[in-house]
Amino acid sequence: MAAAVLVLQAAAAAATTYTVGAPDGLWDMQTNYAEWVAKRTFHPGDKITFTYSAELHDVVEVSKAGYDACSSANNISAFRTGNDVVALTAPGTRYFLCGLTGHCDSGMKIRIDVVAAGSSPMSPAAAPTSAAASSTAGTGTTTTVGLAILLLLAVLHHHRAIIVAPL
Ligand SMILES: *[C@@H]1O[C@H](CO)[C@@H](O)[C@H](O)[C@H]1NC(C)=O
Repeated sequence: MAAAVLVLQAAAAAATTYTVGAPDGLWDMQTNYAEWVAKRTFHPGDKITFTYSAELHDVVEVSKAGYDACSSANNISAFRTGNDVVALTAPGTRYFLCGLTGHCDSGMKIRIDVVAAGSSPMSPAAAPTSAAASSTAGTGTTTTVGLAILLLLAVLHHHRAIIVAPL
């Protein structure tokens, strides 16, 4: 239960919105999308934005078969605002292409692998966890020092009592 809550918090903390192709490209016919995705890790909760001129392109989400064949016939969904935000809600692979004739064949298609948070060795969850751990350790140290001072005072007081007593 606690672990599940931690995983959810980690996923929420890591949520990122990626503009497809940016910063060197966008949703166009020049960008190498295989290269672009290879440099990034997508987690559930992340979003991708397709930014393009709606007169020149569109975005069609397809199955693997549609992706491989550059066919939008049996599409999952289609977007054409020029600023389309797609939520990557669950682990799995998502496929998108431009439905305009010839564009997908020219390379205007993208495959996004969405992996569960924590699958990446560079999990951002590690940072808040260790920060929390060190702040807890800090509190523990302060408490220990405080107790030591109290003990020292008690001992000094006791000694004085012993010294004072015979007089
Ligand atoms: C998406 O599929 C539907 C049929 O399921 C089709 O009518 C529509 O034209 C397709 N959209 C695109 C952009 O190809």
